[in-house]
Amino acid sequence: MTIEVANPAPVPAAGRSARVREIATARKALRGALMPILHAVQEDLGYVDQTDLPVIADVLNLSVAEVHGVVTFYRDFRREPAGRTTVRICQAEACRSVGAEELAEHAKRRTGVGFGETTYDGRVTVDEVFCLGNCALGPAVQVGDKLHGRVTPSRLDAILGEAR
Ligand code: FES
Repeated sequence: MTIEVANPAPVPAAGRSARVREIATARKALRGALMPILHAVQEDLGYVDQTDLPVIADVLNLSVAEVHGVVTFYRDFRREPAGRTTVRICQAEACRSVGAEELAEHAKRRTGVGFGETTYDGRVTVDEVFCLGNCALGPAVQVGDKLHGRVTPSRLDAILGEAR
């Protein structure tokens, strides 16, 4: 089985600022523009880099500290590149009641990283998510765009092993 990889390819730093400015300028008239801009940067470039903050602050006429405060407050925003594959383990109630916490512990032992972290070889980022809409088939795990249900530790091992 092939694992679909959804993480965007890294963009060279030289072009990054120009792209961030383009994204921010296109959305600056939106109400509460900072959040949609940050989401768009992450979607387009994979994460919100420290060097993006002054560019966004300049476009929105905010201080860098204000932008930094929002990026660090919300767990949604990655501040470093994700691994080539992101494995998200549901930690919402229905999945927890059927072993999602144990599955997360297993993932941690198997990969050596916790939620929001990436393996040393840049292969896999493990993260938590709160409900994938697959509650009847918990514990649920998402790999790229693909959803897996009733994931046991051994199935998770197979998923992690295939993530290259
Ligand atoms: S609670 Fe895990 S998919 Fe809904």
